Amino acid sequence: MPISFRQVGPCLAAEVEGIDIGKPLTPTEVAAIHGGMDKYAVLVFRRQPIDDEQQLAFTRSLGEIEEAIATGLRKPNEYRLPTTFADVSNLDKDNKPFARDDRRRLFSLGNRLWHSDSSFKATPAKYSLLHSRSIVSKGGNTEFADMRAAYDALDEETKAVCKDIVCEHSQIYSRAVLGFTEFTDEVRRRMAPVRQCLVRTHPTTGRKSLYLSSHAGAIIGWPVPEARDFLRDLNEAATQREFVYSHKWQLGDLVMWDNRQTMHRVRPFPSNEARDMRRTTIAGDGPTVAQAAA
Ligand SMILES: [Fe+2]
Repeated sequence: MPISFRQVGPCLAAEVEGIDIGKPLTPTEVAAIHGGMDKYAVLVFRRQPIDDEQQLAFTRSLGEIEEAIATGLRKPNEYRLPTTFADVSNLDKDNKPFARDDRRRLFSLGNRLWHSDSSFKATPAKYSLLHSRSIVSKGGNTEFADMRAAYDALDEETKAVCKDIVCEHSQIYSRAVLGFTEFTDEVRRRMAPVRQCLVRTHPTTGRKSLYLSSHAGAIIGWPVPEARDFLRDLNEAATQREFVYSHKWQLGDLVMWDNRQTMHRVRPFPSNEARDMRRTTIAGDGPTVAQAAA
């Protein structure tokens, strides 16, 4: 079957047909996937019954894996999956949903805010690949917003202001939005802010995009309230429905997205149902700006 891309929703997502992601990819297939990512930024592979090893092999054929180490509140002995996966399920080590008031669950509610994965790391993520191993009875869609379209829609004056802005990103900022503010000193150190430029240029297509994320809580050189007001306005404009694709999960779906060109968020779902989602992540090429000395 030839490889094909069928656009779904606004021009940022496409369903891919003609590739079996459970088998080793040919160079032609690898090139087609990268080309599809450059064009759309979100690719959907429907109903792919792959296991962990196949997901890792598929991911590695597209780039180097970014490990998920110390990015949440799970202690080292509480990991359900190896660190080659980001465990974005709502499940503990025994595959049971977290209690409603479990701090690990409450921390993970940050994923319901618009964000770009790992924007809180000095070298942020390139692609994320999310595979659905169990689905919930209602809710739980993942939504994606096109940050290229969001940038293009800005007026020239705002583009000029954004051009040189450098933001500080930290998971402490995104959790504070939800009123989750109690952290140990160790976690605060681990989640110290990093710097990211606000406007990114895609290395292949040359298109500019807004690099927004709920992790962004400050702008270098700006008073904090003014920075947050400015970022809130940008986020509102960038996530208008005309820029958004909402993915309704089916069992076995794999969705991959380019974190440099999109934001995403998960929508609410029943807390007592298992939602087993396993994310592999492809590392970015390097920092977006020089980092301040630690
Ligand atoms: Fe995410």
